[in-house]
Amino acid sequence: AAGTAFQYIVAEKKGAKENVGLIRLNRPQALNALCAGLVREVKEALDAFEGDPRVGAIVITGNDKAFAAGADIKEMQNNTFQQCYSAGFLDEWDRVSKVRKPVIAAVNGYALGGGCELAMMCDIIYAGEKAQFGQPEILLGTIPGAGGTQRLTRAVGKSLAMEMVLTGDRISA
Ligand code: COA
Repeated sequence: AAGTAFQYIVAEKKGAKENVGLIRLNRPQALNALCAGLVREVKEALDAFEGDPRVGAIVITGNDKAFAAGADIKEMQNNTFQQCYSAGFLDEWDRVSKVRKPVIAAVNGYALGGGCELAMMCDIIYAGEKAQFGQPEILLGTIPGAGGTQRLTRAVGKSLAMEMVLTGDRISA
């Protein structure tokens, strides 16, 4: 629940009325790569804010260097298709898109791969000068499998989405 100690995130209520649920991804040594533990904690914090009638909106942010640099490559690099499929890999990821309260992504630094997908699951993205959005999965021989191909297309149009997904090149806000 919000207020309890998390390992990979900080969750707290902000604002004069304490009605904003703030989730700060806090795994700076790995540029906030979205390991299973971090994703689970985000889900728990979202559940708590969703169930808290005093919370009116939720903000998800990272730090100046990274919003999130993607799925945790070290954690997933040896996964086989069968393992991913039977264990429901990425099943918990789209919790953000199902939250009924407005969710804002406050992005600076890298929002890559799953980090870009996480930002796009939010209702609004506010991006800073240093924000860098990209879907570099192709450079690892994988695809933006958590909705990126679809949400990016809706956000920036087919042509730029195809260019980003097929080259891995990053764009600013
Ligand atoms: N998964 C796991 N660890 C990651 C990570 C990821 N997606 N992205 C960064 N890290 C880790 C690095 O391994 C490094 O840890 P280490 O010091 O223990 O080796 C640490 O974060 C810092 O990253 P580093 O690459 O040294 O920083 P940089 O400033 O030189 O480069 C990036 C930044 C974002 C360009 C580079 O980290 C990168 O390309 N990351 C992968 C992005 C990606 O492909 N994401 C999509 C995954 S599907």
